[in-house]
Amino acid sequence: MADVSPLTTDGLVRILFGSSAFQMLNAGRNLGLFRLLRSSPGLTAREVEQELGLAERPVQILLLGTTALGLTVREGEHYRNAGLLDGLFADGTWEIIDDLIDYEERIVRPAEVDFTESLRADTNVGLRRIKGSGPDLYHRLSADPELEQLFYRCMRSWSRLSNPVLVEKADLTGVRRVLDVGGGDGVNAIALAEANPGVSFTVLDLPGTVEIARRRIAERGLADRIEVRAADIFADDYPPGHDCVLFANQLVIWSPEENTRLLGKAYAALPEGGRVLVFSAMSDDSGDGPLYAALDNVYFATLPAGSSTIYRWGQYEEWFAAAGFVKPERLPGGRWTPHGVISAVK
Ligand SMILES: C[S@@+](CC[C@H](N)C(=O)[O-])C[C@H]1O[C@@H](n2cnc3c(N)ncnc32)[C@H](O)[C@@H]1O
Repeated sequence: MADVSPLTTDGLVRILFGSSAFQMLNAGRNLGLFRLLRSSPGLTAREVEQELGLAERPVQILLLGTTALGLTVREGEHYRNAGLLDGLFADGTWEIIDDLIDYEERIVRPAEVDFTESLRADTNVGLRRIKGSGPDLYHRLSADPELEQLFYRCMRSWSRLSNPVLVEKADLTGVRRVLDVGGGDGVNAIALAEANPGVSFTVLDLPGTVEIARRRIAERGLADRIEVRAADIFADDYPPGHDCVLFANQLVIWSPEENTRLLGKAYAALPEGGRVLVFSAMSDDSGDGPLYAALDNVYFATLPAGSSTIYRWGQYEEWFAAAGFVKPERLPGGRWTPHGVISAVK
């Protein structure tokens, strides 16, 4: 059970003005407030005006918002970043958060106005905000190169934020070659290859993604251990020669029936004793949290594909069993995002 505190009026205010709270974070990032306070903590409002080239009224509005939300802290006349933000700058995570804010602003916000309609229609009505005629977000990206670039840059950051959990929890002992199904730009194969020097990888993804992945992999000097192949993960057979199949941030896109089908294809491609690994954000079996999964589900319900959902741990166990896998094991990440790995064996 998630630890859900009773609603207060302050909590109601945060919800009522939830998108305004996001705009404070977004403007603080876009206008360079957080970067400025990182390099020059303790500036006054007047100094912030001068440094950012903004007038008095906008800076008052911005500092009121960021400070009331706890993003910045006021000490007398002086402002600094919250300790958490400075920590994110210090360990390099801010670069990632920066992309996540971009993703929320430019991809999620325009589509999420269709959330209610998406629930009513039980499908991703927000896809109408994306150019092209493909059946899902991924098939539409190639119709809009600018969006495609933004998407893969941000997707990579979402994965970099959470994939230390994958690297820590995925036990590749005895594994020789992993098939990374819908592996995107190779971000997870790269992280796993760097952590497991004896293991090789094949990344499968749509034709438009393959060049991006090859470039990324070559930049890391891993082209001899990570092969990239264009494939449709539903229509095409999975190549042989893999003793582990990975679905990273993949089964979250499709319906239970489609997931059982994909897991069935993985089962057919694996030898006896081969492993399947699913890496994803997970929601609790109790159906009341965590908050991250609850709120990120607005995006999943509205945009990627008709049935996308942050599923519960138990649903993966049901699909594993339906596909023939045994010995399911849950490996929660235990970090602030609800990512975890769930594995099973053929
Ligand atoms: C949410 S992204 C996850 C990418 C990567 N696994 C990660 O964790 O960063 C989903 C990926 O699945 C790919 N994909 C979607 N439909 C596909 C299909 N029918 N065949 C092959 N790849 C597909 C997309 O192009 C995209 O790269």
